[in-house]
Amino acid sequence: MSARAQIGVTGLAVMGRNLARNFARHGYTVAVHNRSYAKTQSLIEENGSDGDFVPSESMADFVASLERPRKVVVMVKAGGPTDAVIDELVPLLEEGDIIVDAGNAHFPDTIRRENDLRAQGLHFVGTGVSGGEEGALNGPSIMPGGTRESYKSLGPILEDISAKVDGTPCCTYVGPDGAGHFVKMVHNGIEYADMQLIAEAYDLLKQGLGASAAEIGQIFAEWNTGDLESFLIEITADVLQHVDAETGSAFVDVVLDQAEQKGTGRWTVQNGLDLGVPITGIAEATFARALSGSVPQREAGRAALPAHTQEWTITDRDAFVEDVRLALYASKVVAYSQGFDQIAAASVENDWNIDRGAMARIWRGGCIIRAGFLNRITEAYERDADLPLLLADEYFTGAVGNGLAAWRRVVAGAAQNGIPTPAFSSSLAYYDGVRAERLPAALIQAQRDFFGAHTYRRVDREGTFHTEWSADRSESEA
Ligand code: 6PG
Repeated sequence: MSARAQIGVTGLAVMGRNLARNFARHGYTVAVHNRSYAKTQSLIEENGSDGDFVPSESMADFVASLERPRKVVVMVKAGGPTDAVIDELVPLLEEGDIIVDAGNAHFPDTIRRENDLRAQGLHFVGTGVSGGEEGALNGPSIMPGGTRESYKSLGPILEDISAKVDGTPCCTYVGPDGAGHFVKMVHNGIEYADMQLIAEAYDLLKQGLGASAAEIGQIFAEWNTGDLESFLIEITADVLQHVDAETGSAFVDVVLDQAEQKGTGRWTVQNGLDLGVPITGIAEATFARALSGSVPQREAGRAALPAHTQEWTITDRDAFVEDVRLALYASKVVAYSQGFDQIAAASVENDWNIDRGAMARIWRGGCIIRAGFLNRITEAYERDADLPLLLADEYFTGAVGNGLAAWRRVVAGAAQNGIPTPAFSSSLAYYDGVRAERLPAALIQAQRDFFGAHTYRRVDREGTFHTEWSADRSESEA
């Protein structure tokens, strides 16, 4: 077997297969391998004309067919299956070879694997890949971690196959060890928030206007021509206008209203709690999926809970649609601002040195949250790489401020009319919390000191204090 392939892919389910095809279409000689050889054969039979593939039945032949330093992309299920493939690969590889995990691994696993393999002289690159099947084939957004050294030889190939926006690849070096998978995880958290916000906007338009799914689809299509232009708004317009062939009803009306998840949103929220970063938009979106699936609770709630709502009369349809659009935009900025805070906090905690502007740049194309609006985020971080709050960037203060009255009207209207808008509402609460001169957290500190002697700090002098609540209420320095 001559070592002539420039890159290899093992795991040829749809994502792996499409990535392999993408490499081949870009002129690379691609070694391909799968646990069952039938999948490898079907790739060659059906897509062999995409380029130069080197199929192997055994892992040993697969590895032997690769040029050094070998670059092996592993595209199997996260968790145990990834470890199993790595264990099989390691004895066959040599110093300086690169294993790329392109699945949705949990970043602590990536940190562990990188550490283990570095000790054995190998590079382990945990890389986020977003864009689904279509993206993998035609250009995904790629978020590689691992060593800078590995990026020197691997990076140009990944940049080559990534999506391009204005000629710029949607792929860049993210940072050491688990940084790539971390950023992909936050991408997915933001994806959850974005989807929930869109769903709430749809519900407001549906209940507020009594509009049909197709009519709302047209509103989304219109929104997609402005500030909200994005893949998720575009597909929403499409989905809402789709008619179920069997019943002739709007497709969305025949889908069971219980949202599922594979776990990346949950990981993002768990990490937000660990870091103490309020990612309330992502958290509400994740919990909204959980609520939708809480069947017994929903049945009990539906049967027992009164609404006490008022009749909702919207006199100016266009003004209401514009209010919802502005509220959606503002809430979306909050969700992104929070997600970028989470990236900043993890970057400090793990010494990753992640460039947030570059992350917004590589999310402009190829990935699920791709949107014109990401240009504004990159520009904000170009103005100030250490921006403490994305919302406070001059562009976003203007854009959100412009819609503030509308945002308040929409959230108030939803509350009065009993329409659940957890992401819209909590985003507005975050906005008001983060801009508040003074928060009632002072009272919480006082309560903590009262029942647990947990101490507090004062506004007027340095130090930590405790009040003798059950004695003479004298204050002492702790
Ligand atoms: C992507 C997506 C993808 C994710 C799905 C499903 O960036 O291409 O984020 O990685 O697996 O969107 O996510 P849930 O099943 O958790 O909704």
